[in-house]
Amino acid sequence: MNVDESTVVLGLETSCDETAASVVMGGSDVLSSVINTSIEQHVPFGGVVPEIASRAHVELIAPVIAQAIEESGVADTRIDAVAATVGPGLIGALLVGVAAAKALALVWDVPFVGVNHLEAHLYAGLLEDPSLELPLVVLLVSGGHTMLIEMSAHGQYRLLGETIDDAAGEAFDKVARFLGLGYPGGPAIDREAQYGDPTAVAFPRAIPDSLNFSFSGLKTAVMNHVRKHPDSVTADIAASFQMAVVDSLVAKARRAAREVGAKGLVLGGGVAANSLLRQRWATACDEDGIQAFVPSRAMCTDNAAMIAAAGWYRLKSDGPTSLDCGAYPGLRLPLVQSYTP
Ligand code: KG4
Ligand code: ZN
Repeated sequence: MNVDESTVVLGLETSCDETAASVVMGGSDVLSSVINTSIEQHVPFGGVVPEIASRAHVELIAPVIAQAIEESGVADTRIDAVAATVGPGLIGALLVGVAAAKALALVWDVPFVGVNHLEAHLYAGLLEDPSLELPLVVLLVSGGHTMLIEMSAHGQYRLLGETIDDAAGEAFDKVARFLGLGYPGGPAIDREAQYGDPTAVAFPRAIPDSLNFSFSGLKTAVMNHVRKHPDSVTADIAASFQMAVVDSLVAKARRAAREVGAKGLVLGGGVAANSLLRQRWATACDEDGIQAFVPSRAMCTDNAAMIAAAGWYRLKSDGPTSLDCGAYPGLRLPLVQSYTP
């Protein structure tokens, strides 16, 4: 199949609580992007409940796809391929998107493309700014991952560093719950921190001599501090915690870019919506004389436009995915080699 600027891909994303569909032409022209979420149903439980997420996807997937196609202004017959997230994610949730994508591919007689959700987050940057020059270093920070990845060409990834314990988003969620700020914790801490003093408490920073991250000790330090000082101001704790996370993310990303000679630093994943991280990212890249890319907030969190974009690149390089393909909750990023600092 000839994959070019006119190839239209319908992308589906159902790996967690978002049910999303998007129509993208040529890997970067977003014709529509619809996102629905079952987040409200998970709030009372303080986290995503897999069974509730799967049931919500079953109810939402058909109307979300119909809306994405309608808003794109293209006819069904113009769709050249259907891409869906095959992992990582919640098994029951993933299966809904994969089954829907395969069914549509069969009905329309077009290729099915299985997409790695982590690879799609890497493509979110290129989707909004196709002029980004490779090699890039991407910091992927979400509820499940904190990874520094070098992207030297399409599909060529090298893992430079990752968290050795909690993901950054997980640390935001756990600290927010401890502080009584609710769920999801990232946006709650972001809001609360605006009223606090980020220098109020000097929480521990990054592990030296490595591009790896660790957030579990920081989380414990926050808890110990609050237990010892029960009258601490919540906004100050939130601001100081946020500053410690952002300091460590920015320092390691800068170092990684320097070490591999990257032309740009790209931010991706849910935590990339954090206000302080976004500000500091731009300033750091400016100081280091490299291209900064901070995606729009809508592109940071889970969406299907990034799935369709990554699907377009995968279809171009590897062709269609077999319909025997399943859903893979623990799927990892396909790495070309490991990195030793
Ligand atoms: O990428 P994502 O939507 O889902 C996956 O984990 O794949 O990321 C969700 C994570 C959650 O941990 C949430 O608390 C965090 O991103 N997050 C934020 C902000 N908005 C979302 N963390 C810090 N500041 C924010 N503004
Ligand atoms: Zn994600």
